Formats: sequence, C-alpha cells, structure tokens
Amino acid sequence: MCGIVGAVAQRNIAEILIEGLRRLEYRGYDSAGLAVISDFKISRLRRVGKVSELQKAIEENPIDGSIGIAHTRWATHGEPNETNAHPHFSNDTIAVVHNGIIENYESLREELKLQGYVFTSDTDTEVMAHLIERERKSSDSLLSAVLKATKLLKGAYGTVVMELANPDCLVVARSGSPLVLGKGIGEMFIASDQLALLPVTRQFMFLEEGEVAEVTRRDVKILAPDGSVVEREFEETTVQHDAGDKGKFRHFMMKEIYEQPDSINSTLEGRLAQDSVIIESFGNRAPELLDKVEFVQIIACGTSYHSAMVAKYWIESMVGIPCQVEIASEYRYRKTVVCKNSLFISISQSGETADTLAALRIAKEQGFLASLTICNVPGSSLVRESDMAFMTRAGAEIGVASTKAFTTQLTGLLMLAVALAQTKKSLPQEEISNIIQELRTLPNDIKHALEMDTTIETMAEEFNEKEHCLFLGRGEQYPIAMEGALKLKEISYIHAEGYPAAEMKHGPIALIDENMPIVVIATKKGHYEKVVSNIQEIKSRKGKIIGIVTEGDKDVRELADHVIEVPETIESLTPLLTTIPLQLLSYHIAVLLGKNVDQPRNLAKSVTVE
Ligand code: AGP
Repeated sequence: MCGIVGAVAQRNIAEILIEGLRRLEYRGYDSAGLAVISDFKISRLRRVGKVSELQKAIEENPIDGSIGIAHTRWATHGEPNETNAHPHFSNDTIAVVHNGIIENYESLREELKLQGYVFTSDTDTEVMAHLIERERKSSDSLLSAVLKATKLLKGAYGTVVMELANPDCLVVARSGSPLVLGKGIGEMFIASDQLALLPVTRQFMFLEEGEVAEVTRRDVKILAPDGSVVEREFEETTVQHDAGDKGKFRHFMMKEIYEQPDSINSTLEGRLAQDSVIIESFGNRAPELLDKVEFVQIIACGTSYHSAMVAKYWIESMVGIPCQVEIASEYRYRKTVVCKNSLFISISQSGETADTLAALRIAKEQGFLASLTICNVPGSSLVRESDMAFMTRAGAEIGVASTKAFTTQLTGLLMLAVALAQTKKSLPQEEISNIIQELRTLPNDIKHALEMDTTIETMAEEFNEKEHCLFLGRGEQYPIAMEGALKLKEISYIHAEGYPAAEMKHGPIALIDENMPIVVIATKKGHYEKVVSNIQEIKSRKGKIIGIVTEGDKDVRELADHVIEVPETIESLTPLLTTIPLQLLSYHIAVLLGKNVDQPRNLAKSVTVE
C-alpha cells in the first residue's frame, strides 16, 4: 500500500527520499513522486510505474533541496497516472503526501470548489492540501492549520505536509495510517515504515492515533488531538539493517521461505522451559489472564486468518474451550455477542491492517477479558493497542506473499494452545512434553522439507498452461489447503480454491477432469484413510493429483501423479511442514510464468485502508 518518506536536513535529501521509497516498494504501488523546496519554490517530479522511473527522471532533471517529501501511491481514488500521483499541491505553497482514505472528500471538495479552489486530480489527497491551505490563512503556524484541518476529516490518514514559506519544518498527522519519525544528527526523517529509514537512522519514535507533530532538524513538537503537548523519547530500533536485501536469492519470497528454520527458532527462543511453554511469553499478566479464559475469539485477514483457523483446531482439541475465528472486516461490521471471560486475539504480520485494527478497537469496547495480538512488527499499532503481545520474530517480511510470518504465527499459536492447556490442566504432561520436544526439532524438520525444492521446481512445469487448481485437506490441513490456494492465486494469478477434502463431492467435483490439477494434503496423521478415499474419487475422474505425504508413504504414491514428502512429526505440528511445499510450489509456478513474485499486481504488503 502507499508509502511515505520525508526529510528535513542540512544536505541534499533527494537520494535519501528515493532510497526510502525503494525500500518501501514491497508494500505495492503504481506510481511515485517527490517534492523538495529549492530556489524559493517547491519542485515536484512524479512518474507512473516503478521508483526507478522516478530516479531516472531525477537524473534527467536534477532536483536538490534539504527538505522534501516523497510517496509511492497505490491507487484508491482515480486511476494510476501522473496527475493523481503524490505529492499534491495547493496554490504552489502547500505540498502533501498521504496514505489512507478520506471518506468525506466529496463534500469537502464541493465546499472548497465553491471557495475558489481548483482541483487538478481525482484524488482525496488534493482535498487535504486545499483544506490545509485554507486553514493556514487563519492560523499562526502550519502545525495549528494541520490540526484544524484534520478535525474536518473523516477517514484514515498518515500525512506529511510541507510549506514553501517555512522551509525548516514538516508537519505530520496520523489517524489510522502509521507514521514513524527518525532522528539523525541535526536532521529528522519521517516514514510510513521504519524500514525506509534504516540507512540513515536507528533512532525512532512512533506517532500515536490522532496526533499532529511539527518536525524540524533538531526537534519534534507533538500535539495530542486536544492540542496538549505530548512528551515522547526516540528509541533505538531492533529491526535488522539488512532486512531490505535479497542476499543470494532471486526474490525476497524465496529468501523468506528459506529463512523459516531460523525465524521459527527465534520465535521459540527463550519461551520454552524443559517440558512446558513459558506462559509469561504472552505478557506479564498472561498467567493470571489465561487461567480465567473460557472462550477465545480470533480475528485476522488473509494468510493470518488461515493461521487463526488452524489455531481453532488446536485450542478446541487441546484446551476444550470454544474458539471462534472470524475475518476482521466481517467482525467489525456486525453485531457480535461476547461470552463471559473471552480472550480477544488479533493476528497480523504487519500490525497495521486497517480491518484488524478496527476490530481490536471495537473489541476493546465490548467487555473482553483482555486482548492479545500475535504480530511480527514491534511498535506497530496492534502491538501498542493490545493488552498483551506475542512477537513472532520472523524478521522483516518483504515479499507481498506472506511465508515466514505465517509459519511463525502458527508456532506462536501452537505455543498459546499449549500454554492454555498447561494452565487449565487439560492435557496430560506427557503429551505436553511431547509437543515441546517436537517443537524443538521443528526448525530442522523444516530444513528437511525445504530439500524437496528442486523436485517441486520440476513439478511446477506441469502448471504452465493451467488456469485453475484445487487444494484439498481435512482437519488442521484444511486451512493449509486454503493458504496453498491463496499463495498460488496471489503470485501466479492462477485461479485456485482451498476446500475441505470431503466437501469436494458437494460441488467442486464437477470441475474435475484431466486438465484440473488437485493438490491433496494426505499426511499419515489425521484422517489419512478418508483422504485416500477422496484421492480415489479424483483419480476415477482423471484429475491430476499432487499428493503432499509423510515420508515413506506408499498408498498415495500409487494413486497420485506426483508426491511431495514431508518429515513425520506429531499431528499438531504437521500443518507447519505441509505449508513448506505449498509455498515452494506457488513460487516456482509464478517464476516459470514470469510473474512479479515479490510485488504481485494489485496487492499491497500492508493493507492500511478498508
Ligand atoms: C498474504 O500472502 C497476503 N498478502 C495477505 O492476505 C495478508 O496476509 C493480509 O493482508 C493480512 O495482513 P496482516 O497479516 O499484515 O494483517
């Protein structure tokens, strides 16, 4: 989704802005632009397409200045063209970049038109620029003009405003779209994601909801929504400096698939005792709160929703308490019933997904016992606004298709199910010890599963001319089938559906013929015989079967066109292993089809709008 970079320094910042935008490319965008103050005017360059196009434009029309703002746009209002690209101006004196959506932009636009403002784009952002310019006329500073303007906005924004008359400061405002400030020596930076600024600083401060701030080279003045001054310190980040490099891999997605043994190791580190999960890993209050939990409500979107679905199987079978799972965008807009002593869990890689965040905010008003987030980004909105946070420690995930974030979410959720089972004494100690032992060997098992890579690469060639694919699984493997289908459609644009294997005969079976590839998860543990029967049904209709099986399997091998083996483990951990070949399969198919694996069309890494 859109990306923001801003800088106020004592050197030419054009290169810093471009590098910042480059590091935000993974979020998904369709045009890019920047504006700097130089020679007593605001100079702007915008281009449709990649940041490299903008960079080329700068080489052809050198632009330099010590204060500036830049943006990558993911179109919401108006098509992706140069006039709709940010920054947007008002009267050549105010320049604005904006992430989010202004919901009341049409009425504001009409009002501003009547007051003589001329619009040159179709965007909601241009409304903000004119509104700030209008408020500036009756304000003693840009800061108070922005504060007044934001009071008139409905919707979501993370915005940076620059004023020609004031070349020493930028004003930023946040509501629903994240913004972080970075501190250098005698210079300050702003971005929608700290990753953008890692080459220039490691000192960061997040802006909170509703805050507006004035950022100069040496100072930051933050105002709360009621106008009072907020005191906050910069803190050193723990995010790795090289998070934005592909290393020896061709794509970030592949690098991240291969990082999974390490990321799972980090997720487990320091959180397992000899024969148990350390319950405090979920927060200091976790022992007292988990003891009281009688019901679990999980909400998430996309891949994170699939990990929630797996968690439902784990929690209900290990803990014996009900667990409900819902897509965040549905949860937030319906009347829900909250049972006594319910724990609200949000799951999110980014911690900034608009629907998930909105669901958490609603939940906080609904009388839940507590809120817990399973999240990968420290300092993100979900982490800051939840009562407890379990950090998945996957490291920065750059590929739009989520891989290592998913398996670390599963790891955390399995640990949560075990922690609840420990607290409620719902599982025999022997079973808990067994899970802990298997969790310890999980990173190695994943390494082993990755060894099928070359076989899967060859197998991918069969998908060359396929337009559809089915993924089937039962029990805990059903959400994994859905995740396999999501990965394939996201990056290869092949239509794919994930189904519970037994549900096939209630409809999808009509699609099966010799042109339909069907990936069936048929591991030894969990409904094996029943899945084999489903495979027979596919076979007799000539479907092309790709079986994901346990090492040494014979029955499925006899029936399937291809098999991919994963190491044997206990039933609850199998979903983590079957995920690996599905990630590799969709990756290789997308590469063979020549798709943009890391930045698939129309998708964004962090979906900060509804
Ligand atoms: C995953 O491959 C997707 N890109 C997408 O479904 C993602 O999982 C979803 O947008 C939720 O994001 P979050 O985990 O950051 O909340």
